[in-house]
Amino acid sequence: MRTRVGIIGAGPAGLLLSHLLHLAGIESVVLETRDRAYVEARQRAGVVEHGVARLLRHSGLGERMDREGITHDGIELRFDGRSHRVDFSDLCGRSVEIWAQTEIVKDLTARRLADGGQVLFGARATAIEGIETDSPRVRHTLEGREEVLECDYVAACDGFHGIGRRSLPEGVVRTFERLYPFSWLGVLADVPPSCEELVYARHERGFALHSMRSEEVSRLYLQVPNGTDPDDWPEERVWEELAERMAVPGWELRRGPLTSKGLTPMRSLVTEPMSHGRLYLAGDAAHIVPPTGAKGLNLALHDVALLAEGLRARYTHGGTGALENYSAAALRRVWRAEHFSYWMTTLLHTSGDAFDHRLQLSHLEYLASSRAASTQLAENYTGLPHP
Ligand code: FAD
Ligand code: DHB
Repeated sequence: MRTRVGIIGAGPAGLLLSHLLHLAGIESVVLETRDRAYVEARQRAGVVEHGVARLLRHSGLGERMDREGITHDGIELRFDGRSHRVDFSDLCGRSVEIWAQTEIVKDLTARRLADGGQVLFGARATAIEGIETDSPRVRHTLEGREEVLECDYVAACDGFHGIGRRSLPEGVVRTFERLYPFSWLGVLADVPPSCEELVYARHERGFALHSMRSEEVSRLYLQVPNGTDPDDWPEERVWEELAERMAVPGWELRRGPLTSKGLTPMRSLVTEPMSHGRLYLAGDAAHIVPPTGAKGLNLALHDVALLAEGLRARYTHGGTGALENYSAAALRRVWRAEHFSYWMTTLLHTSGDAFDHRLQLSHLEYLASSRAASTQLAENYTGLPHP
């Protein structure tokens, strides 16, 4: 099989890249190891930055988001038994959309298939070859057969555990990494949210986050030690802990049946460069952020917008400048998001250290009293317009 751009992974990055290339008249094939139902049901992110929402609208994918998603103009910080609202509209004139990754993936998949796009589910990429030549190849297995996808370019959008990152030559690649001593226990609950905006809570017992998927479904997270078994957290314990960590006077947490429960480890990781020869990495294949601040999905979609633009220039007038600049341009935004996610994580999670605790409270009080301090949070959270 031969195509122009071979894409590994049908997560948000791979699917949006394939869609943007299609809009530019460039053919691609997407290889995805899992089946469609699995990919569409995978519970992950829920916050879409201002500029990414615009990107989705401009590429014809905003209709359901604008109808069923919820626009948020701020978030609430809770600490020391009190609450402070960060008003995005007032501070930086932007907002975010509460619109789940599962819905973005469903819309993208349906759209690619309706447009005659090739998304091969059950196709596992096993090797990327010839990236320093003009005709790279992706070896993969499909329905038990060994197959080869020949292409002009390979885009590895295959997430943290994929083969893309590992296919960059050793002498070329550098990885920067930070691990954290805690994870998130995430639950989905069939209960209307107990708040109008997202609540980020810092408490001696650990961080808690109240998010939502709709007017009827809440999404909640608790900081837990690494290696925690979700089975040690029955429904009652989850609700008790959330209520305690998020408590402020006069507020009550609505409870309801949990429909899913999972553990997310926290990690920061950046691969440099994000391309070599004819291989380009995008999204979680190239970088990971801890989820505090909701940047992972947004970074992935920004990456592929840049990559699609570089490929469009290459195929329309032969210019390779934008492709050559892809890694440097993407990394500028990636490092800003890495810093913001690290900062939100260390501001809100407890380490058990008394000195850290005092620093966190001091910084939270500063945020609550200084417009300048709140503005930097608002700008980064809603997404900076330029890298
Ligand atoms: P993925 O969504 O990981 O997609 C990669 C795709 O490649 C997958 O479908 C995978 O099956 C496929 N693949 C892998 N290897 C191969 C192969 N060899 N051959 C073919 N296909 C392959 N971000 C937030 O902002 N907020 C959150 O709350 C949040 N929660 C998260 C929870 C979890 C458990 C995880 C893992 C991530 C979470 N993230 C969150 C991060 C966010 O979901 C990711 O940044 C986003 O999914 C990145 O999209 P992607 O397309 O780059 O990668
Ligand atoms: C969600 C996840 C995040 O990491 C975050 O900072 C806010 C919301 C969510 O899944 O809804």
